[in-house]
Amino acid sequence: MSTTISKTAVDTSNFRSPSFYYRSAREGMRDFLTEADIERRGDVLLPAFIGWSSREGSGVFDPVRECGFGAEFYDLGATLAADVSSIESKLSAGSVAVVVVIHYFGRTDPSIAAIRRLCDQHGAILIEDLAHGFFTSFQGGDAGSQGHVRLYSLHKMFPLNSGGMAVYESDQLVSGQTSTAPEMAERVLSYNWQAIARKRRAVFLTIASRLAALPEKDQLFEMMWSQLDEVDVPQTLPVRILGGNRDAIYEALNAQGYGMVSLYHTLIREIGESDQFASMNELSRRIINFPVHQDVDLEAIKGLVDAFQACLHSVAV
Ligand SMILES: Cc1ncc(COP(=O)(O)O)c(C=O)c1O
Repeated sequence: MSTTISKTAVDTSNFRSPSFYYRSAREGMRDFLTEADIERRGDVLLPAFIGWSSREGSGVFDPVRECGFGAEFYDLGATLAADVSSIESKLSAGSVAVVVVIHYFGRTDPSIAAIRRLCDQHGAILIEDLAHGFFTSFQGGDAGSQGHVRLYSLHKMFPLNSGGMAVYESDQLVSGQTSTAPEMAERVLSYNWQAIARKRRAVFLTIASRLAALPEKDQLFEMMWSQLDEVDVPQTLPVRILGGNRDAIYEALNAQGYGMVSLYHTLIREIGESDQFASMNELSRRIINFPVHQDVDLEAIKGLVDAFQACLHSVAV
């Protein structure tokens, strides 16, 4: 008599997404670009909002350059959502082999599923950059479920000095990839992801509701996202400074002990020097991010928002 239901699961391919662990997301990207069997060695298509700093370089762009790939850039809207028609026209031109979509600050790109369909039509590989989206990708939405490759920066979301992860949709793109930091799996599995996600959302919503009540909203600053979608877990809360000097506001708040973040204060030269992406350059001069991580004390948020409000007036344009 043949068994129709085994006592335990034995199919090693069922629901499997091969994963590799690194010291950083960029190391995972480099391993993919070096080792994967990318059939058509064309260009890598990236979003036109990629930061650079003298200390860190560019975590997104450096691996592309170092691995000898050509780079092209597509447009983004004011909320940093990918412009699908811009991606489509680049894919139609025929030289793109890999498309990178960044879920900025943990917000699911609304078109990620449509972009995957386009990539499939054109035979391109989709990389989802979830450097900011580790927790978002476990909330049941589209983020983290569409890319052939999904890249995570663990040290950005957990209290770790280093850590990156690459998860592949299947074994098809896996050949010689190797983990350089397998211990990251143990570190990350030692945290309660659901509790962290809940806390990050609670911090975000508390800061957002205080900001929304400020009379300076839409005069001296504006929110970049009108709401926090249920499937999203933020990395930070981005706002756009309309009046006042963003760098001075950043310095003043950090001097008061409020860990404001300025991730994309400078864009890589390839974008920064292009007139085509003037709106992204403008955004990089105005954006500032509030911390919403799991250690933020909800009681300290009133002080943070009061200090921000005061800075909007005290800091010269
Ligand atoms: C969107 C995005 N992707 C990837 C990276 C690279 O992350 P890591 O520092 O883990 O290499 C960064 C940060 O540098 C980032 O902001």
